[in-house]
Amino acid sequence: MAVIPKQDPVAPVDPAVAQDTVLVLDFGSQYSQLIARRVREARVYCELVPGTISADEVRRRSPRGLIFSGGPASVYDEGAPQADPALYELDLPILGVCYGMQLLAHQLGGAVKAAVRREYGHASISIDERTGIFEHLPSEIDVWMSHGDVITAIPPGFHAAAHSMNSPYAAISGPKGRYGIQFHPEVVHTPLGREILRNFLIDVCGCAGTWEPSSFIEMAVSDIRTRVGSGKVLCALSGGVDSAVAATLVHQAIGDQLTCVFVDNGLLRRAEGERVVEVMSHQRHINLVHVDATDRFLSALADVTDPEEKRRRIGRTFIEVFDTEARRLGDIDFLAQGTLYPDVIESTSHDTHNAQKIKTHHNVGGLPEDLRFQLVEPLRYLFKDEVRQVGLALGLPEDMVWRQPFPGPGLAIRIIGAVTAERLDTLRAADWVVIDEIKRSGLYRKVWQSFAILTPISSVGVMGDNRTYANVVAIRIVESDDGMTADWAKIPYDVLATISRRIVNEVAGVNRVVYDISSKPPSTIEWE
Ligand code: XMP
Repeated sequence: MAVIPKQDPVAPVDPAVAQDTVLVLDFGSQYSQLIARRVREARVYCELVPGTISADEVRRRSPRGLIFSGGPASVYDEGAPQADPALYELDLPILGVCYGMQLLAHQLGGAVKAAVRREYGHASISIDERTGIFEHLPSEIDVWMSHGDVITAIPPGFHAAAHSMNSPYAAISGPKGRYGIQFHPEVVHTPLGREILRNFLIDVCGCAGTWEPSSFIEMAVSDIRTRVGSGKVLCALSGGVDSAVAATLVHQAIGDQLTCVFVDNGLLRRAEGERVVEVMSHQRHINLVHVDATDRFLSALADVTDPEEKRRRIGRTFIEVFDTEARRLGDIDFLAQGTLYPDVIESTSHDTHNAQKIKTHHNVGGLPEDLRFQLVEPLRYLFKDEVRQVGLALGLPEDMVWRQPFPGPGLAIRIIGAVTAERLDTLRAADWVVIDEIKRSGLYRKVWQSFAILTPISSVGVMGDNRTYANVVAIRIVESDDGMTADWAKIPYDVLATISRRIVNEVAGVNRVVYDISSKPPSTIEWE
C-alpha cells in the first residue's frame, strides 16, 4: 500500500463546519484565494472549490451561499469554464465577481460582449440601489476594475444596482439574493470591498459571522479521533509552525498514540533545534524521537555547490533518516502533516497547474513512496495566519507560532558555495545578530523574512592596526504577503548600522556586511 494521495478538494466536510459555509467557485482568477481569505476574515467559514463543481455536490455540502470568482476567460470562448446550470435551481444567494458576474448574466439569459476598451484599475461607481450588498454604503464608491467584457443586456428579473462612466451595469441584482459586480471587492484597492462582502455573507446569505479559527480546534480534534481510532500516528517536526501546530492538535486528540520525529539536519538557526525539543517534549509531553543527523547531512553536502543539488541531497538524506526511524518505530498507521489550504488549492486548482517552478522546494513532506501510511492533515483547510491563531489557542509559545518562514534546506542555501561545519557556525552567529536586532526593533513580525547570507567573497578590512582578509556577510530583509513577490525592506539606517557593527565585532571571520536591495522579481528571496 502506498501513501494515500491527498483527499479530493471536494471531499466531505464535517457537518459542524458545513452549517455556516459559503463556497467560492474558482473560475481561475488570480484573486480566488484572496476572496476565500476575505470571507474567512468576515468570520464565515468558506472553501474554494472548482468552478465546475456539480449542483449535487453543492447540495450535499449545504452552503448558505455561493461566490463565483473572476477568471481570465470570456464567457463565450470555446471551453470557457461554466457553472453547472442546475446550481441556479438551488435557490441559493450568489455573488458573481467580474467573470462570475458575466457568467451569471450569460447563463441566466442576459448578454455579454467584448468591451470597446478594456477597463483596468481605479474607477468610481454610483450606487443606484443602496440595499442588499450595498446597504449602508455611500452613493459613490471607489473600486478596482479589471475586465475586458461587459454586460450588454441583463437577465430577466435583474436590474442595474450600480453604474459607472463606462458601464450601465457596474453591478446588477436579481431575485433570490443574486448579485453580480463588475469590480473586485477582495482587493485592497476597493476600500469598501470588505463591507460589500460582509453584507452579502451576513445580510443576504444569513451567515452568523461567528466562525473563528479556534472554533476549528474542537472539530479537528473530534475528526482526528474518529479517523485514527486506536491507530498510531507519526509526525515529522521541522521546527516550523505548521508541523508544530499539526502535531499539537493531533496530540490533543489522541495523546500517546502520536510519536513525533524531529530530524535535526544541523542546518537550522542557532537554538532552534533545542527549542523544538524543549517545547514539544518537555512542555507538551509529546513522544519525541530526536535524531541528530548533522554529520550525515554534512557529509551528503560535502563539496556540493549547486543549489538544486544541495536541495536534492538534503531531501534524499531526510527521507533516508526518516524512513529508518519510521521503520524502527514500526506499527504506524497514519502520518500527520502540516499541509495548509494554499498547498491544497495549489495542487488542485486548475489555474495554478502550469505555474512555473522556480526552485524545487523540499519540505518534510517529501517521503518515500512505499511507506505504508494514510495521511492526517488537520490544517488542510486553514490559511497561515489562521494556523497561527490555532497555535496560540493551543498554548504554543509565541516565538514558535510567529516564526518567520524558513526554507526546508535551511542554512545550506544561505551559504553560497560549499557547506562546512565552520561556515555554518559563522553564518549562524551572524544570523543570530540579525534576528536579535530585528526583534529588538519591533520589526520581526512586520517583515516577511530577515536573515544573513554567507557570501563566497572575502574582502580586505582593517581591524586595529591589522589588515584583515575575511568573509563578506549579506543581509536580506524583505516584505511580502506570500513569498511570491517581495520588496526589500526599508529598514531604518540605525538598525542596519547596529546589525553591521555587531556582526563585525561578534562574529569571527567577518569583516564586511552588505545589505541586499533587490526585489522579487527579478531576484528571489533566497540567494540560492
Ligand atoms: P524564493 O527564494 O524562491 O523563496 O524567492 C520564496 C519563499 O520560499 C522559501 N524557499 C524555500 N522553502 N524549501 C522551502 O521549504 C526550499 O527549497 C525553499 N527555497 C526557498 C523562501 O525562504 C521564501 O520564503
